[in-house]
Parts: sequence; C-alpha cells; structure tokens
Amino acid sequence: MNIYIKNIKELDCACDALILPFTEGDFGLYNNIGSTTSGLVKKLFSKEFHGKQNEVLLVPSPEDIKPERILLIGLGKKDEISTEKVRQAGGKAAVYLRDMGMKKIALSSRVLSSLKMSPADFMEGSLLGLYTFKRYVEEKNNKTIDSFVIPSKVSKVLKDDIHWIKTIASSVCFTRDLINTPSNDMTPSHLANAALSLERNNLLVKVLEKKDAEKLGMGAYLSVAKGSKEPPKFILLEYKGAKRAPLALIGKSITFDSGGISLKPAEGMEKMKYDMAGGAVVLGIFKAVSELKLPVNLVGVLPAAENLIGGFAAKPGDVVRAINGKSVEIINTDAEGRLVIADAIGYAKRFKPQAIIDIATLTGACSIALGNEAIAMMGNNRELINKIKKSADKTYERVWEMPLFDEYKEYLKSDIADIKNTGGKNGSLVTSAYFLYEFAGEVPWVHLDIAGTAWIEKEKPYMPKGASGIGIRLMLNLLKELK
Ligand code: BES
Ligand code: MN
Ligand code: ZN
Repeated sequence: MNIYIKNIKELDCACDALILPFTEGDFGLYNNIGSTTSGLVKKLFSKEFHGKQNEVLLVPSPEDIKPERILLIGLGKKDEISTEKVRQAGGKAAVYLRDMGMKKIALSSRVLSSLKMSPADFMEGSLLGLYTFKRYVEEKNNKTIDSFVIPSKVSKVLKDDIHWIKTIASSVCFTRDLINTPSNDMTPSHLANAALSLERNNLLVKVLEKKDAEKLGMGAYLSVAKGSKEPPKFILLEYKGAKRAPLALIGKSITFDSGGISLKPAEGMEKMKYDMAGGAVVLGIFKAVSELKLPVNLVGVLPAAENLIGGFAAKPGDVVRAINGKSVEIINTDAEGRLVIADAIGYAKRFKPQAIIDIATLTGACSIALGNEAIAMMGNNRELINKIKKSADKTYERVWEMPLFDEYKEYLKSDIADIKNTGGKNGSLVTSAYFLYEFAGEVPWVHLDIAGTAWIEKEKPYMPKGASGIGIRLMLNLLKELK
C-alpha cells in the first residue's frame, strides 16, 4: 500500500472514501470544510454519529466533491486524546474501509493537527491493522487498500514520520508472518534462513550448528534440542551503526514447544508454534534498525530449537552444564526457555555488551498475571528498566515490572546441581526470571516475558487475531532515544 502526502484540499481528492476524524461531541473544525459537506456531516452528527472512540459511519458524499464517500471516525473525548487513540482509530477506519471494498483512501488531517497529533500515528494504526496472514488459503475476494493520500503541506517532519512508521510496520508484519507460520514450515532451519534473508552491508548474520554449540559447551541449550530430529540453529546477528559497546538482544526461539518428556496437555498445544515469537521479534528489530540505519550497535542471539519428545530427549532429573560452567538440574523439561536463554546470555557476554535484553514467551504464569495487556519485565538495572518503561508508555506496548526478591534464590536450589530449572508453580513468572538473573550476573540485563502479549485471541483495532509482533515498536523507540 502506498502513502502519499499531497498539497491539495481534502475535497479535491479523488478517492473511494475520505476519512474525517472527530472528537466526541465536537463538530467545530468541519464548519468551513465546504458547505455541502459541512451540512451533511452536521446532520449526521450527534444523531447517527457522536465521535466516540473507534465509532465509524460511512456515508455517500454530496455531489459536488471529489471523494465518493465520507467515513466519520471517532477519537473519543478531546481531553483524553493520545497517540494510542489515534493509532487505534487508524486501524479501525482502515480495516472497516478495506472490508467494504474500498481501494483509494484519503485522510483529513485538520482535526489531528489541531490536537497536535500526527497523521503518521493514524497511518501506523492503519498499516498494522490491515495485516492478514493468507499463506495457506486460496484468496477468493481480494480486498486490499491500494493507496492512502494525506492532503497536507509536505514537510520534512511528516515525510520522516511516515518513513519511520512504514519501515516499522513492515518489520512488524514480517515478524507476524514468521510467528503465524506453523512449526512444520518454521523449523530452526527456516528461522535461520529468515535471519539470513536480512543480511546486507550493515547487518551480518551467522548460524552456529550443533557441533559448534557442542564445542562452546552450550549444554543447557543442546539438552532442549536433543529430542528432535530437526537440527538446532544458534543464530547470530550483528549490526554496526556506532562505535560503542553493543546492546545484546536475545529472542527465545523454540519453534515448537511440546513440553518434551514433561509433555503439555493436548488442549491448546497447537499454539506452541508461537514459542519463537521472541526470536522473530528480534529479527524484526534488526530489519527495521538496518533499514532506518540507526546509529546504534546491536548483537542478536536466537537460540533456535524444537522441544520435542524422542529417544534422546532430556529427562526430568538430568543434569546439564551451561556455557558458563554452571550445572543445571532439569526438573521439568517444559521449562526449556530459560535453558536456551541461559546459554544465549553466556554467549552474548563474549561481545562485552553494555546491556542484555531478552525477549521471550517464557511462562504461562505471565498471561495468568497480566492477560493480553502487558509484558512482564524484570531486570537488574534501574536505568534500563526506566528507559524501557518510558518507551512502553510512548508506544503502548506496555510493560509491568515484577520483583526479583533475594528470597527467590531459595526456590531454585537443587540438591545435586548449582541450580534447578524450576522453582515450582508458585511465583513461576518471577522465578523463571530469577533463573536468568543468575546467568546475567553483573551485566545490566532486562527480561521481557511476552507470553501473554505475543499472541492475541481477540483482535484489537490494529492487531488482528494471532501474532501481535509486540516488542518491535517498544525496542525501536528505545533505540531511537538511546542514540
Ligand atoms: N513456552 C512456555 C510458556 C508459554 C505458555 C508461552 C503459554 C505462551 C503460552 C514455556 O516453555 C513453559 O512451558 N513454561 C512453563 C514453565 C513451568 C514448567 C515451570 C509454564 O509456564 O507452564
Ligand atoms: Mn515449555
Ligand atoms: Zn516454551
């Protein structure tokens, strides 16, 4: 879909539908848009349409203007306006118009500018909301929007903002595709190929094989891969846009999590294809960063494996040794995420990173605590935590901090090894993070548990059901601020 900024009047814009955003109960700015249009909209206003958040009304236009139809969209109360509400309106309006078969759209920016909101935020919602995953179905009715025109003065700020949201939205959609793809077509090898497809002059990709991981002593990671015939792939990315120490991003990349010998129940197990969401998000971040050429240094680590059952599968009670020499007693083979991330943290430390951030669908307890609404965050560095909180507020990819009390150490005490991989049911959201904390040691580190947010059961205005791609917008905003 193309987005054009054109220096013309809204009503001179030949299109299938012109979008007019409204705040609740407020007609003011449309008084002087053009007499027939003002008259029509005024008639509808406060009877058929009120301007409530995400309320839509599509009507035929008056004869004397170029747009064929007008779509009224509500932004909610004026004094409660936020970029998130604008983004949601953008998603809602675009999806509605697409489903009505519209192809050419225009967006009036007069109300948005008066609210000091950017049409770019509206368009971000549209691009994210219009995502569909059709890889496995024969497309029958091909409903797609071809173009969006923003009638406005062409400014550098607006052009840059549009470029930013277009790049990010395309990365989010790339990531959603990876996550939505079932595990038979998204094995560790497929994920490695997806990473390799991003390679370009400022972005290096390297894939370590099983034998490399063996040489490095990644016993925790390899124990998870042992039950599957699919070879594990330890995927590395390096982006150089600055001179300072890199930020290391680790993404949990279990392409299918059956639970292993500690088998999961059948119900809902099909969803465990999304256990590589963290890795896919890290790939999306690298794609966007390299396209936007941000002045930052990044290292990406995706410990990819399948957690299956097989003759060689790890068994409860096994003791394995991680890359840093720590021995781990595997109490539950379904707590595999922390095992692969522990070795990824150990490996990432070789790059002497300024900080490590891991993104993982780590615990069912995360969704029990926070539902689909927030990422659980834990870490050992106040400054980094606060920066992430700020970015979360800006992007509405919200985070909620959970504690890492010293007492949790006890939960992970093993009788025969340095640590065990689960601390039981109670507090499993925080003890999973505590396990990683033990491997992060002194390096500034933050863990983001996206188990509750990476996959959504009920669509939202700019998130169709399925993979959300959450984490990309959060991290990109953070990186923009870090530079
Ligand atoms: N991948 C799961 C966590 C998960 C569950 C993500 C549901 C998304 C939706 C993880 O590997 C897991 O199985 N965690 C266990 C840990 C337990 C055995 C300590 C869990 O949370 O049940
Ligand atoms: Mn598991
Ligand atoms: Zn898992």
